[in-house]
Amino acid sequence: MEPHVQIDTLVSPSKTYFISLVILPRSGKDFLSGKFRIMKKDEFKFSFDVYDSIEELTEQDAWLLNEARDVTGNAYAPYSHFQVGAVAKLVNGEIVAGSNQENASFPVGLCAERVLLASASSLYPQVAIESMAISYQTGNGDSNHPISPCGICRQSLQEFESRVKHPIRLILGGMEGKIYVIPKASILLPLAFTSEQLKGEW
Ligand code: THU
Repeated sequence: MEPHVQIDTLVSPSKTYFISLVILPRSGKDFLSGKFRIMKKDEFKFSFDVYDSIEELTEQDAWLLNEARDVTGNAYAPYSHFQVGAVAKLVNGEIVAGSNQENASFPVGLCAERVLLASASSLYPQVAIESMAISYQTGNGDSNHPISPCGICRQSLQEFESRVKHPIRLILGGMEGKIYVIPKASILLPLAFTSEQLKGEW
């Protein structure tokens, strides 16, 4: 498309002149008037299981979630008072736990999920995670709805899955209430930036 050049001159009340130079493709007018064409629409969908309470889970999932609830007590969260516990069962049967570890320099703090991933990877390199339960306690005691991993943790979970070539099932629940079981952590991060993209391998 051949570009054309559009020059606008504006006078502000304080008599300062602003010149804005906008380079638009020839179809720029159509674009601005909303007449552009979308070549293809794509969508992202996923499904997950919702349980009303821990009693509905399998014995193994209920055990893992109860462990995650317990591990919230190991969090170091004096700033947010939001204590997160994560417990995973690895494919070799080992159990690994993590809890959030905060710091007076706030960005230094680590989420429970990434503490867990780093521990798992250090103790059992290359061993996949089968399931990870995540729970939490709040300063005011309310913990009756699932929380899901933050954006940075989603990125870490995605790469962990990809490098060991195995999905991580997530079991998300508070100290009581509904539970979400998500079949694969990376479905929470559509269009993720991956190591393949970094290498230019599409
Ligand atoms: N946090 C986690 O550990 N995991 C999550 O998925 C969400 C947030 C922590 C980070 C911080 O220590 C506190 O919760 C409040 O954001």
